[in-house]
Amino acid sequence: MSHSDNGPARVTRAVIPAAGMGTRFLPATKATPKEMLPVVDKPAIQYVVEEAAAAGLENILMITGRNKRPLEDHFDRNYELESLLQVKGDTDRLQAVQYSTTLANLHYVRQGDPKGLGHAVLCARDHVGSAPFAVLLGDDLIDARDHLLRRMIEVHQATGRSVIALMEVPTEQVHLYGCAAVTSVPEGISVPASGVGSAAEVVAVKGLVEKPEPAEAPSNLAIIGRYVLTPQVFDVLERTGPGRGGEIQLTDALATLIDTDPADGGGVLGVVFRGRRYDTGDRLDYLKTVVTLACERDDLAEPLLAWLKDFTTGR
Ligand code: G1P
Repeated sequence: MSHSDNGPARVTRAVIPAAGMGTRFLPATKATPKEMLPVVDKPAIQYVVEEAAAAGLENILMITGRNKRPLEDHFDRNYELESLLQVKGDTDRLQAVQYSTTLANLHYVRQGDPKGLGHAVLCARDHVGSAPFAVLLGDDLIDARDHLLRRMIEVHQATGRSVIALMEVPTEQVHLYGCAAVTSVPEGISVPASGVGSAAEVVAVKGLVEKPEPAEAPSNLAIIGRYVLTPQVFDVLERTGPGRGGEIQLTDALATLIDTDPADGGGVLGVVFRGRRYDTGDRLDYLKTVVTLACERDDLAEPLLAWLKDFTTGR
């Protein structure tokens, strides 16, 4: 857990905040968590858990709330369904049903009051303890071929610093995100060369603003929902008051960390991602994501593309 002679502790824990109300998808999310909405044939949350597991994070804490029971059920055994599929000899579906139970060791804690992302992360404190940990937000899906999280963990491991994922977005969209002021990594911090082409560039983060007005935006580099954090963030979160939207913001806590040691950037680095990211945060992006990912599936791509061409002709 603590620092060893060989450098920072290994990152093995992931925190996935999943307590949000999903208001943008009502009424679909009245009785179903938004994380359970299907993206092709898997719930959105399964992509995120698969991503964490693929990056070696086998210990996952989900921050849930009321009405989130289906999340726990999805990653648990369903013996009745399994034995039915077994009797039918439907091994493909049996495997699909069992697969989600094998991905990771999942733990759950309830947020209670929905006081914002920063508060959700603070709910992980007892579970995480004094180890570095990753945070994955469920609205952002990262293509499994692009290994963003692996790169972020590698950068953390080499530097001992918190690492956030950044991506260039069109200026008119910056107000939807946390936004970063960045500079080059100071000499003396050695960043490992990357085999991950889509996430090679590393920057030092000098400042962060949550959902800035266009005039206040320090850049068009947006925080996308992946973080590798040192446990120092918990002390700062304890002291962080409500920010944008009256919520306790993770971005504000990271901004405070940076401000406490501006010369050193508070030890926060950014990995600039240039790979494939799919947004499921609102209805239009969700629909685009479903179509995009369906077009990657061998069994669906051809007939779907043919139908889409036909459907869009003359519209
Ligand atoms: C959250 C964060 C924001 C970040 C975004 C990424 O906002 O607060 O800094 O840019 O996730 O998806 P939300 O979209 O949950 O409002």
